[in-house]
Amino acid sequence: MKPIDALKEFRLGTCYYPEHWPEALWEDDFRRMSELGFSIVRVAEFAWSIFEPEEGVFSFELFDRALALAHKHGIKVIIGTPTATPPAWLTHKYPEVLNVTQEGVTLQHGLRRHYNYSSQKYRELSAIITRKMAEHYKDHPAVIGWQIDNEFNCEIGVFYAPADHDAFRIWLQEKYGTLDKLNEAWGTVFWSQTYSAWEQVFLPRPTPADHQPNPHQALDEKRFISDNTISYAKVQGDILRKVAPNHWVTTNGLFGHLDSHRMNDELLDFFSYDSYPQFSTIFYDKNEVNPLADRGWSQTLGAVRSISPNFAIMEQQSGPGGWVNRMDMPSPKPGQMRLWTYQSIAHGANMVLYFRWRTATVGNEIYWHGINDYHNQPNRRVREAGQIGAELAGAGDRIANTQFKAEIALLRDYDNEWDGEYDVWHGPFTWQSGKAWFKALNYRHIPSDMLYVRSGTTIEDLKRYKVLVYPHPAIMRDETAELLEQYVREGGIIIFGCRTGYKNEHGHAYMRPFPGAAAGLCGISVEEFTMVKGSRAATSMKWSGSGEALTGADSFNEILVVESDSAEAVAHYASDYYAGKPAVTKNVFGEGQAWYYGAVFNEEAAGQIIERLGLSSPASDWLTLPKEVELAIREGEDGPLYFLLNYSEQPALVTLNEEKTDLLTGSKLSGSLTLEGYGVVVLS
Ligand code: GAL
Repeated sequence: MKPIDALKEFRLGTCYYPEHWPEALWEDDFRRMSELGFSIVRVAEFAWSIFEPEEGVFSFELFDRALALAHKHGIKVIIGTPTATPPAWLTHKYPEVLNVTQEGVTLQHGLRRHYNYSSQKYRELSAIITRKMAEHYKDHPAVIGWQIDNEFNCEIGVFYAPADHDAFRIWLQEKYGTLDKLNEAWGTVFWSQTYSAWEQVFLPRPTPADHQPNPHQALDEKRFISDNTISYAKVQGDILRKVAPNHWVTTNGLFGHLDSHRMNDELLDFFSYDSYPQFSTIFYDKNEVNPLADRGWSQTLGAVRSISPNFAIMEQQSGPGGWVNRMDMPSPKPGQMRLWTYQSIAHGANMVLYFRWRTATVGNEIYWHGINDYHNQPNRRVREAGQIGAELAGAGDRIANTQFKAEIALLRDYDNEWDGEYDVWHGPFTWQSGKAWFKALNYRHIPSDMLYVRSGTTIEDLKRYKVLVYPHPAIMRDETAELLEQYVREGGIIIFGCRTGYKNEHGHAYMRPFPGAAAGLCGISVEEFTMVKGSRAATSMKWSGSGEALTGADSFNEILVVESDSAEAVAHYASDYYAGKPAVTKNVFGEGQAWYYGAVFNEEAAGQIIERLGLSSPASDWLTLPKEVELAIREGEDGPLYFLLNYSEQPALVTLNEEKTDLLTGSKLSGSLTLEGYGVVVLS
């Protein structure tokens, strides 16, 4: 993968809000940042009312003074365009820019992201403020890049203002051309939904039975929101490129209803992510076996890496988090902030900014803690940041020259992500299986990537991996099936789960035996299927031949039939009325293999398949790690770097059968060593 020019040097820094603090603090803040080894700040992403206090009246003095001090202390600056927080004068004068709920309630001034992307007025005003800021800062010696808006589709990712309904109608006209085609794509013959004039067509509106929309319309709604978000972002992106051509452009994610890959390809130099691993304490599932907790962020970082092989962490959690009324999170324990910083770096980040320099004393986020506390006195988190700063001052550029390396990838795609949000016959399965595979691999110290299947995905993209796991691609276009066939024919191994290949791109069920588009590749058909839930206990599976137990066949069972001579049943169901029937199959196809698992994966099943395929850690020859320690590998011209990340509070015993150097301390390491609780080493 091509290195990203803007990220050639490693940078550590913080989000900074001069407008929140007395000016007398600014210089001391920048001086201390530089002492900690910080070389970058992000500013201004919510400061529209400061830059444009009245319509058409612009003021840059406050930020000019702050940026001059940043420059004096050698700190570079990323400027955020402030469009996530339109000022009160704007929404009061132009209420049509506000977002509206599906029920028709207008979302008013008082929080953020209360606007819609379709309003021409909002686009016009966003363009004006972006241009004014770009013109003002294009030659500023401290400014090096821009963040467009802030976290598109965070807080809310659906839009039902009148302008959105209008824009959706135009989007549909461009996509389908005629109402006949739209009616066909949405299957409106069902329940007499046929449209006879364009004025009858809307984004999904409240309907009986919990407001459920037509499922094909619901899928197009997500596609529209994504396109509309990108076209709104492009208004700003185009201006920044033109007015400030020497600066790079990014935006921070990762949120729903947005093809961040396309946005990155079309508008950005690289993608940025906001990493808050302590959210794991809020979304905690009490029943989860071997919970990933904060380590689960490594999987999301894989999704970020699939957008941009190296990236920035625009906001890295640096304290307990919480708004006044929600998201109440514990404080990171000593060492955890450092661990999470290296988790981001291990997975591809070449720039990390902490959120935030100092905890706000006013507003909704008075409990969202920064590195510094309200009192601004030295504290544990500042000391930890200083340690990280000192380490990366030495090691950062060597790391920045490398990219994450994996030989196995989990496939995903936006069609299924968006369709599965509404369709409970596959959406929830994808999340369960994706997590199961990630855990089974990660706990075995086998690094994995995430790869999004898109219209531009090439055979070379797939051939970077020995094994691909595509858990439940319900929607599968014939072109995708052909690409996957080529991958397997040329030696790749692919593993599918149940519900593969039975829908077309509109979400219509194919009139073909399952697994539809993937049937030829798998050499099987599906005779019958059932949900496994409620009073029906999970069925079990056994490996064929040895009769060893495989695992419970979770959530959904497909009874498979071997259709091709090259295919065989490698496991059978061991209970229920289909006991003895094929549950897992393997088809030798060209030089490779296509596996089909007739249920939803769990960690045990994924683990058993990994073992049958003989996959092991790429460092297993010389490195022995306990389960608590994650292994991530970044590789570049100067060779590989092995990141060992201990997510446990307890020390972990690690054995090295080769001498290595810890890049962070310069010490030579070999034999048995103890990695402290939340400890990190980077071996070269
Ligand atoms: C992010 C957002 C920040 C801040 C932070 C903590 O989602 O970009 O502005 O709100 O969360 O809540």
